[in-house]
Amino acid sequence: MNRRIKLSASLICADLLNLESDLSIIHQKGFDYIHFDVMDGHFVPGIGLGTFFLEQLTASQPVPVDVHLMVSDPQKYIDEIAKAGASIITFHYETGKDIYRTLQKIKKHNIKAGIALRPFTPFSSILTFIEYLDMVLLMAYSPGISGQEPVPNFERRIKELNDILDRRGLQDIDIAVDGGVSEDILQKLRINGANFFIFGNSGLFIPGKKLDIQIDIIDKILNRK
Ligand code: DX5
Ligand code: ZN
Repeated sequence: MNRRIKLSASLICADLLNLESDLSIIHQKGFDYIHFDVMDGHFVPGIGLGTFFLEQLTASQPVPVDVHLMVSDPQKYIDEIAKAGASIITFHYETGKDIYRTLQKIKKHNIKAGIALRPFTPFSSILTFIEYLDMVLLMAYSPGISGQEPVPNFERRIKELNDILDRRGLQDIDIAVDGGVSEDILQKLRINGANFFIFGNSGLFIPGKKLDIQIDIIDKILNRK
């Protein structure tokens, strides 16, 4: 469990009409990534965040972008998302499409590749290709609607994945958590092995709370500074 802590801020939860100021605080405060959700209205009910926006973002921001594809046909979008400047592309196992080919397609662009899992998808499904991954993203609730509660005993799932990676000596694969990451459960997530935290409405962009102060709280919990 020696993985370095990485913080990512979920763009879709930021103040989109005041983005410049939010992004500059995120940068100054040492966030590692901006989390960029792509939704096709098919794999998940909502639609959102497309390639033109991603291009502008990566051209103007020093913070690397991790893209979370919540789309039914991830292969279709890999090339354009990679060319738009993504540093990590994560797609869902549950799409059931040719997973290995999709991973190869991402890797061809010399960027990191991750697999995302819904809360009840078994880990047995990813074991055959796990060593090709740079990240496993665990959704704490079913993707699509922000601000829900994590499923019960979610931390056990992190521990299970952490044990699997330990047994195989796969220390370089990040364990990411997306959805419901609040200051109340952060410590528990970390102790069980998560190291890549994606913050949205639950832990970062909280109405009435100042962004920089909220980041100081996160840093303190994670012992980051
Ligand atoms: C769901 C979204 C998350 C979400 C963050 O895929 O990727 O980024 O908005 O979590 P909340 O808002 O629940 O804290
Ligand atoms: Zn996401």
